[in-house]
Amino acid sequence: MSFRTTASVDYVEDVSPGRGALPPRARYASSDAKSLSLNGSWRFRLSATADAEDDSFAGEGYDAGGWAEVTVPGHWVLQGDGAFGSPIYTNHLYPFPVDPPHVPTENPTGDHLRVFDLPDDWPAQDDGGAVLRFDGVESCARVWLNGTELGEFKGSRLPHEFAVGQLLKPAGNVLAVRVHQWSAGSYLEDQDQWWLPGIFRDVTLLHRPAGSAGDFFVHASYDHTTGEGTLRVDSDVDGRVSVPGLDIDVATGEQVTVAVDPWSAETPKLYDGELVTAGERVPLRIGFRTVALEDGLIKVNGKAILFKGVNRHEWHPEQGRALDVETMREDVLLMKRHNLNAVRTSHYPPHPAFLDLCDEYGLWVIDECDLETHGFTEQGWRDNPVDDDRWTPALLDRAARMVERDKNHPSVVLWSLGNEAGTGRGLTAMAEWIHGRDSSRLVHYEGDWNCRDTDVYSRMYASHEEVERIGRGLDGGAGKRRELPFIQCEYGHAMGNGPGGIADYQRIFEAHDRLQGGFIWEWIDHGIKHPELGYAYGGDFGEELHDGNFVCDGLIFPDRTPSPGLVEYKKVIEPVRIEGDGADGTVRVTNAYDFGDLSHLEFEFSYQVDGLPTGAHTLAVPPLAPGESAEVKLPAAAPDGNGDDVQWTVRALLAEDTAWGPKGHEVAWGQETVSPRTAVTVAASQRPVPGERLITLGPATFDARSGRPTTICGLDVTGLRLDVWRATTDNDDGASWQDDTRYGVLWRKLGLHRMQHRLDAVELADDALTVRARVAPAAAEVGLRTVYRWTSDGTRLKLTVSVTPEGHWTVPLPRLGVRFGLPADAAQEVLYFGGGGEAYPDTRAASMLGQWLPGIDALHTPYVRPQENGARADVRWAELGGLRIEGDPEFWFSARRWTNEQLDTARHLTDLTPGDTLWINLDHGQHGIGSQSCGPGPLPQYFLTAEPTEFSFVFSTTE
Ligand code: GAL
Repeated sequence: MSFRTTASVDYVEDVSPGRGALPPRARYASSDAKSLSLNGSWRFRLSATADAEDDSFAGEGYDAGGWAEVTVPGHWVLQGDGAFGSPIYTNHLYPFPVDPPHVPTENPTGDHLRVFDLPDDWPAQDDGGAVLRFDGVESCARVWLNGTELGEFKGSRLPHEFAVGQLLKPAGNVLAVRVHQWSAGSYLEDQDQWWLPGIFRDVTLLHRPAGSAGDFFVHASYDHTTGEGTLRVDSDVDGRVSVPGLDIDVATGEQVTVAVDPWSAETPKLYDGELVTAGERVPLRIGFRTVALEDGLIKVNGKAILFKGVNRHEWHPEQGRALDVETMREDVLLMKRHNLNAVRTSHYPPHPAFLDLCDEYGLWVIDECDLETHGFTEQGWRDNPVDDDRWTPALLDRAARMVERDKNHPSVVLWSLGNEAGTGRGLTAMAEWIHGRDSSRLVHYEGDWNCRDTDVYSRMYASHEEVERIGRGLDGGAGKRRELPFIQCEYGHAMGNGPGGIADYQRIFEAHDRLQGGFIWEWIDHGIKHPELGYAYGGDFGEELHDGNFVCDGLIFPDRTPSPGLVEYKKVIEPVRIEGDGADGTVRVTNAYDFGDLSHLEFEFSYQVDGLPTGAHTLAVPPLAPGESAEVKLPAAAPDGNGDDVQWTVRALLAEDTAWGPKGHEVAWGQETVSPRTAVTVAASQRPVPGERLITLGPATFDARSGRPTTICGLDVTGLRLDVWRATTDNDDGASWQDDTRYGVLWRKLGLHRMQHRLDAVELADDALTVRARVAPAAAEVGLRTVYRWTSDGTRLKLTVSVTPEGHWTVPLPRLGVRFGLPADAAQEVLYFGGGGEAYPDTRAASMLGQWLPGIDALHTPYVRPQENGARADVRWAELGGLRIEGDPEFWFSARRWTNEQLDTARHLTDLTPGDTLWINLDHGQHGIGSQSCGPGPLPQYFLTAEPTEFSFVFSTTE
């Protein structure tokens, strides 16, 4: 005899989308119908398995007084100080055995209970009905109201509504929701992110008056040849549509054509309107625009567009994916202020309010379905749900819930079937359904390079070389693909320091029509605020399988501070290009917008001498149309630099306040050197004077045995020596699946992090102190012959370093320069003339030359996993602690309160504690950064090849 005790939880492993929910429909932010938010504090009970408790809690009169409480929206694992379990991070591995549709017996199950009264003005029972809406529950929920079961559903980031009117009573309504962390749905939600169960989006009760609106579809197209928009609102419930600003007042289903201003991400013109049915008035925000695949290009309003985009997961370091509207607005404003024009909602439809913001502020959106089955790649995609008819209803349900919810957003220009789900009949069915339901948008999916189901050829992390080939149409491929435009739905992996090489991508995108831009991976680091670790990442909660800090790969830090990667991206994609060769006094200005002219900008211009501006002027730039360029004469002649650098800088600033940025906000800039400095010369007039333990040379003393300086210009100096090591970046280390060129790994294997410094000679001559050394790792034949030559004119001290590689070098160097220590209290800040902000050879587009005065701590970039950071490029001179350092040639400057070795071993920022030494690196070279934590490494031109090299620094006292 066999029996099952789990009959009541069979739905958890059921591949069907669920039962009881109403058909999906358009989402709107508000109407005159009453609604009641059920967000807030709910009673909560956690069980270890799906069937540990019976469902009697759903009945009326149940006493949950002894239960804990959680906040809804929220994830229970992020509440209760660990009492409710922990988050789990995996990239693509399922954290449970792959045996679809089965999930573990250990299936954390959260019973949620909320008792509520209807407000006094809630309409009477016989006045229409009511709907209970869940905007997002991970991963499977069963719902009861007042003891009656409403149904159960899956599809975590999709809305589900239930009709509840007949069940409501004026007071003491009991809403019970049982949420299971794992379900058949989890197999479809294998996105690279934390697994976070809970009711994480709003729960709302909506009154549905008799005659209220049902589903409706706003069709608002734009004909760029006539300047007219055509509006038709198809509505399940008949009514009228009015748009006062356009004098429109028509019946639903009736089409009207009038002259309009179109909607675009650059000019997000929205017309306020209203849908009025017998029982409800629904505000509409209408944007007229037409998306089409034409001439093999994605065109909006007749123009091919270039995506300057980012992949956005929803993230908040304390709330997880339960975001409030202000956080969403912050994301949108940050994007607009950094010149982004597009978002891919990786990898699920976002909270609907985010799309309202994209409509309002102007961002192109690829709205992606809540679907990823990436973990099946471990078994060669066998049993992949997207190629198994039993799952197709669930896939179609997900497609419909996305499209129906979001179809009235002008910002949404492409529907994406999902991410990394292989290929299969289910995807085809989704694409067919979407194409049939909404012919006004294109369909995207990256996982099928033959583009069977899609309208755009999309890839992720393709190399520059391959993208260029695709741009030239030399990529072969099936017939259909050859006709399609190309986007990189993910590129520029922003994990830790980086991404490098994005300026090079942008140049390629701009050079070929077929290339319509890309989306950086990704927007924000998903670090979780942690009392001991600062920000936690994978493994920090003791997960049995995890992918470490691969979850921290964003352009902004978990607290939404922009990382240098975002500043770089802003510069790379700036919508105005300002160039010139410096010498001839003209500037070439190009409008790189797709739609707008430049009339919203004003241009400011200044010369600077030795990094200090000599006064600002206005530069008159014609209101160029998109694509147009003009040569603009600078209004003043360049000053004489008297041996110092002279540059001009032109900035494009917002001329007026806009919705997303204040007047004066910098949109773009350009800078050129008019005349370069002449490097300081030091006459080698002093003779080193040997003492008992010390050698004196000009303003410095040296240890007689090692030849290392002990003081320079009165400052104690320790440990000055050649340095080639950097705390490897995530992009140096590369991803485990990457090939043989992961230099972070190869460097360590060779031992570049444990170089031995053999002293060969300390030589005193009439004009110099020369120290000869060989710097090499144990067990290897490669080495760097190094000569430190010190000279002085009495007040200044010059160090010339010559490096000659020996042996067979098969790897580039991480860095090449000298490092030394100063007393910790020697300086709190550094004044330098060089590039502002962190920069490396392939992340230096945004490095603007000038005089800068950062605090020492501001020179440290707080990557969630500590790694090489903070270098300043093109430094001519730097002053700190009374010491002035001039470089010939320009150098890379870094200062930190810990050694590179300490930085290298730290796992979290909290592992870094200031010591008694301030460590300075003066580098002649740095290796590029690239994007190999998930993409290609640095381009060859950014390699720091081991080759004979000489560079020098002059030390003196300031003033
Ligand atoms: C992609 C994937 C993303 C993310 C990224 C690496 O393959 O689509 O979700 O995992 O790689 O961070």
